[in-house]
Amino acid sequence: MTNYKQIFQGTAFTSKSHTEIQILKDYLFCINEDGMIEQIVSPEDSNYQPLMDTYQGTHRFHPLAEGQYFLPGFVDLHVHAPQWAQSGTALDIPLYDWLNTYTFPLESKFSDLDFAQKVYDDVVSTLLANGTTTALYFATVHKEASILLAEICAAKGQRGLVGKVVMDDPEQTPDNYRDADTHTALVETEEFIIAVKDLAKSTKQGVYPVVTPRFIPSCTDQALEGLGQLAEKYDTYVQSHCSESDWAHSYVQDRYQKNDAFALHDFGLLRDKSVMAHCNFLSDEDADLFVETGTAIAHCPISNAYFANSVLPLAHFHAKGVEIGLGSDISGGFSPSLFDNIRQTVMSSRMLEDGVDTSLSAEDRGVPKSRVTLHEAFYLATAGGGESLSLFIGRIQENYAWDVQVIDTRLPSAKMPIFHGDEDLHDIFQKIIYLARPEHIREVWVQGEKVHSR
Ligand code: GUN
Ligand code: FE
Repeated sequence: MTNYKQIFQGTAFTSKSHTEIQILKDYLFCINEDGMIEQIVSPEDSNYQPLMDTYQGTHRFHPLAEGQYFLPGFVDLHVHAPQWAQSGTALDIPLYDWLNTYTFPLESKFSDLDFAQKVYDDVVSTLLANGTTTALYFATVHKEASILLAEICAAKGQRGLVGKVVMDDPEQTPDNYRDADTHTALVETEEFIIAVKDLAKSTKQGVYPVVTPRFIPSCTDQALEGLGQLAEKYDTYVQSHCSESDWAHSYVQDRYQKNDAFALHDFGLLRDKSVMAHCNFLSDEDADLFVETGTAIAHCPISNAYFANSVLPLAHFHAKGVEIGLGSDISGGFSPSLFDNIRQTVMSSRMLEDGVDTSLSAEDRGVPKSRVTLHEAFYLATAGGGESLSLFIGRIQENYAWDVQVIDTRLPSAKMPIFHGDEDLHDIFQKIIYLARPEHIREVWVQGEKVHSR
């Protein structure tokens, strides 16, 4: 019998497909030294009892208590780590004003490493406590503070993908918050990539550098071109904002007479490892280009509701084959929880389907077939995020990383409304997704290591 590092026992919910969950009732999950799920064993399997006989009662056996369930850890595809310091504030003004009045002044403070340490420590711990085991972060323009964020992810055991932000265009960025000049922006990005790749060697879960032009308006053509070359040279992830708002979309149209997607592609920034945030105003041709290049969308339903005044036509792009995951968009989105973003994904999709144009008859309102089910939204937060990053994460399945959250539905101080001993597991799953708060997340594991408990 194989010698496993540890075996977990319990009921798990994971995605079987875009639209369906799979329930693994009372299974054994066998984890190897590398933190990968090597074998999943059903109670009917002939191996089950021999494994129980060997591991039960040892320190390597972790059975769940009654009322506890495994979910895959969440993959947050879009977080501005520095903006955690202003989460919840100034969300009732337009995006452009929010950036200039609040966000750029806040981000400029991350030249101070003590301040950066405080905020970054807290945001990484908070995301872990909310079940987010992998996060794709924007840091700030500051190289040192951006490296510090990667170090904090490494130390806390989170799988962090981190970008030093590039914004070098004096026309669209404030004097006290931009890269010193285009050349420095590229040199520092390269130094950042090398430092994070080096740091990654000492982690089990992996941390990754990400080439990060903030969005087209903040960057010169030379910077965008240089960043495309760096992404290719070091085979890195790329992230940016793409066709988010009317203002940004029209700005790019005026500058290049094309949409963001084709402009980014011209600079070599749409790659298999690219994740573009928002994408509300993507055309069908843009979406085809995403499919062709393997570029994924980070859907940010909370911030889209008030900054973009729009709903991503998610079902339409999914049907075209675009990879999509979920992003909290802290602090454009106020919540650090992907549970909240799953809920908003479902609600926003209904608004798109049913519309709000009262001048139309009931049959004419909205965009047909826009509904997203809870199972699909859960898929986005887990398996969809994993696929977007081309990593073996986001599913409780053999050959995937043991990245999980343990949900306790019977917490005395926050019991979920489950009254029947034999309640249907599909109903329990839905209650968890709609009602879970950080209190219910009792443990979080990344790559086979416990990184949070309460
Ligand atoms: N566009 C450029 N920067 C940002 C940002 O920080 N947040 C959001 N939501 N959109 C942006
Ligand atoms: Fe953003």
